[in-house]
Amino acid sequence: MVRALHRVLLGATLLSSIGAAVPAAGRPTAAQAPAQGARARAAAIVAKMTLAEKIALVHGLFPPMAKGKTLNELIPSAGHIDGVPHLGIPLVRESDASLGVANQVEQRKGDVATALPSGLATAATFDPAIARDGGAMIGAEARAKRFSVLLAGGVNLTRDPWNGRNFEYLGEDPLLAGTMAGAHIAGVQSNHIVSTIKHFALNAQETGRTVVDAKIGEAALRMSDLLAFQIAIEIGKPGSVMCAYNKVNGDWACENAHLLNDVLKRDWGYRGWVMSDWGAVHSTARAANAGLDQESGQELDHAIYFADALEAEIAAGRVPMARLDDMVIRYLTGLIETGAYDAPAKDAQAIPYDTHAEVAQRAAEAGIVLLKNDGDLLPLARSAKRVVLIGGRADVGVLSGGGSSQVRSVGGAPVEIPLTSGAASSFARVTWHASSPLLAIRAAMPQAQVTWIDGSDPAAAAAAAKAADVAIVFATQWTTEAQDVPDLSLPDRQDDLIAAVAAAQPKTIAVMETGGPVLMPWLAKVPAVLQAWYPGQRGGPAIANILTGRVNPSGRLPITFPASAVQAPRAAPVGLDRLTSAEAQAAADPGHAGDHQLASFPVDYAEGADVGYRWYEKTRATPLFAFGHGLSYTRFAYRNPVVTDGAKLSISFEVVNTGKIAGADVPQVYVAREGSATPMRLAAFRRVTLKPGQATRVTLVAEPRILADYDPALPGWRIVGGRYRVALAHDATDRALVSSATVAAATMKP
Ligand code: BGC
Repeated sequence: MVRALHRVLLGATLLSSIGAAVPAAGRPTAAQAPAQGARARAAAIVAKMTLAEKIALVHGLFPPMAKGKTLNELIPSAGHIDGVPHLGIPLVRESDASLGVANQVEQRKGDVATALPSGLATAATFDPAIARDGGAMIGAEARAKRFSVLLAGGVNLTRDPWNGRNFEYLGEDPLLAGTMAGAHIAGVQSNHIVSTIKHFALNAQETGRTVVDAKIGEAALRMSDLLAFQIAIEIGKPGSVMCAYNKVNGDWACENAHLLNDVLKRDWGYRGWVMSDWGAVHSTARAANAGLDQESGQELDHAIYFADALEAEIAAGRVPMARLDDMVIRYLTGLIETGAYDAPAKDAQAIPYDTHAEVAQRAAEAGIVLLKNDGDLLPLARSAKRVVLIGGRADVGVLSGGGSSQVRSVGGAPVEIPLTSGAASSFARVTWHASSPLLAIRAAMPQAQVTWIDGSDPAAAAAAAKAADVAIVFATQWTTEAQDVPDLSLPDRQDDLIAAVAAAQPKTIAVMETGGPVLMPWLAKVPAVLQAWYPGQRGGPAIANILTGRVNPSGRLPITFPASAVQAPRAAPVGLDRLTSAEAQAAADPGHAGDHQLASFPVDYAEGADVGYRWYEKTRATPLFAFGHGLSYTRFAYRNPVVTDGAKLSISFEVVNTGKIAGADVPQVYVAREGSATPMRLAAFRRVTLKPGQATRVTLVAEPRILADYDPALPGWRIVGGRYRVALAHDATDRALVSSATVAAATMKP
């Protein structure tokens, strides 16, 4: 393996290429130009509308609570906005979410949909094509079920390992999360429906989510969460942006003029509409003037702010009529640009669930991460005659995450446990998808006797493990919207169970069905660990295929796994200690907002832009498993790397599959300015699939905004000229191949 990279001068070429890629503010690119036509068309429609018609489009119903408010059919789902038939404006129905068409507590009896694996699983593929395919599949189902808006596109960075919604998101890195979210959104919208992107911004914890005031500096915010949104919006062009529940630097996200007017609409030139999260509106004039375009699920707010109250504020001159026009123009522009206006979802269509399930399975197979495989215990040897599976309800299915993203998947829910307490209790149930690992492993290992025991008795489990050739423990950690996990340990004494099994059977494998990182105190005793996330409706076969080697694992961690909770910027959910259980529910469940008058409390994101792996590098902490880590049943080497000048900072190298079977690798490029205290940042990545012995040359181009810092005084992105370290790496801590390039100073618009 060639370790020396070539140092080059980038000079003026980098500057000019950045200038070409990022147009000056206000100057539309070729790609944007036709869309200006969408706004003009929307404006012409709005010019024909009465005040009442305009007002009717800027507040949406929450169907479960909106009986009698429309003559049109209300599908039990998240949202409904009547159309204006005489002007051709379509009725719009909205459904959650990123993992499929949700049906959380089976409010639509018997209505099933295909469940993708969790967002973190999709992110772990590091493959935008997989994200796009998943989006296209669930978008097709949304359309077939008569929804014109899918509330998908969750891209909040996973700042804290205990966040209850991490499973919905795409990890801790802005380039990875933004790229994958953009692809997912583009896939959804390829069905001529709208995907939102959400939750704008810094909705980084669930504890007290409706009262938290997220504190962060401008530069840090632009370089982290906002950069993920910016990249995703550029790639996916979502018709709508959903503002969040929380405050950001003192202002509610849905009335935050800086976020909505300055950043989103002015700096990024965003043309679609801003919809509120459900129950996230707090005012009329203030919110409208700050850039909120539509109040969603109005019945969940303390008052209906964007109907009569908005009309009154317009009459009083506190909201200009031009602002109302802009609100409606943006709504129609989002619908027109995606095609939802001209081809609205109207009639229910048949859904090819079998082919859709294959999309979900491919995503799961590509996203499962082999964390550890000592002695090549995996893939399971053909000689294994007695295999015992333990726990996790692996007899009947795989766990799913809870909350608004909950899909009732094809095949139903073999296990469904209602909640009796907690912030999510009114709208979430602990739910398994009907995809049995036991049946799938039996089918994949016809030569073996494969059995399952529930794991409730560690001693019995240890005895069963001892009597078998190999033991596979299925560990589960249920996480949900509206609640963070109180700590990072597996619940229900599963650590004891795994330790007992591993003590009895040296060939023990742990399969982790968790929302995100958990601690693994038994790790030294367990030779093989598979991170299966929530693997979706084909999770059983996906896990079986990886365990038996029919599929070579290729997932890479999109989130750092800490070795102990104190390594993370915040060891536990902030504010959990100050809220009673009733208050926690009120502060996280919009349906209960208003039951209590809760004081806002600050959460200081002191790590700033150094989220995830960057924080670990900065604090010199060694994680349990690094961002980007993931093993394979083959090996990959990187050869002959060359950093070139050319148009951009790029690195070209050969990826070689040096093992005996086909597999996929994800080479990663990290950059940092030499001599600065800034940790290295992921600047480019690519998933490549190679046959045994095959080599391919890959060129990765560094994203300029990753090389840059955000300078609020400019305002804009500023690349400090000088020498940069460039690491070609297998994960965020790999520094085997590092060289330096000299980059010229440059600036870019915000
Ligand atoms: C969630 C959103 C979701 C909305 C509608 C909110 O509680 O935060 O992600 O889209 O509900 O169900």
